[in-house]
Amino acid sequence: MIFIQVLVETLRNFAYLMGDEKTGLAAVVDPAGAVDRILSLAQDNGLKIIYVINTHSHSDHTSGNWELANATGAKIVMHKKARAPKHLVVEDGDVISVGELKIKVIYTPGHSSDAISLLVEDKLLTGDTLFVGECGRTDLPGGSSEELYDSLFSKLVKLDDELEVYPGHDYGDKPHSKLGYEKKNNYTLKPRSKDEFVKFMAED
Ligand SMILES: [Fe+2]
Repeated sequence: MIFIQVLVETLRNFAYLMGDEKTGLAAVVDPAGAVDRILSLAQDNGLKIIYVINTHSHSDHTSGNWELANATGAKIVMHKKARAPKHLVVEDGDVISVGELKIKVIYTPGHSSDAISLLVEDKLLTGDTLFVGECGRTDLPGGSSEELYDSLFSKLVKLDDELEVYPGHDYGDKPHSKLGYEKKNNYTLKPRSKDEFVKFMAED
């Protein structure tokens, strides 16, 4: 797999380009406005972008969706609860095929009601659900600390410790991190009851 993390300095967003070397097909996750850079990276790596997938529909992530789709013919993919314009919807457990790459959709609401994480090979793209050293905020419209608790503690932390977490923003002391390291060191993932977590998020 070709996998490129692109830092977009303005809001410290991360965009991602992932491609299947065999077929040359690729997907972009959260263009974050970096359309020109993504197009030239795709060209440099001989990749044809067929999907633009959003981890959620906040505009810092979706910015550039249509410019990229129009330039490449790619289809825009979001969770079925997303209200933003898109071509295709996905839900928990769906698998998006990009050539021989299989991208598994894990529904992880909490930061927003349409938030998904994406599992591809040994990489876990967590959008604004989980950052290096932090978790997503839940005080925006559609946010829910109860849902974020379930997404983090019933879904993400149950995955393999060896997965590498690739977040939606560069908020940590490194751009990506092992899930097992985050379980031990991320203060938001300390063992808490749901009530304790909801209180913790309200204080934060
Ligand atoms: Fe967000």
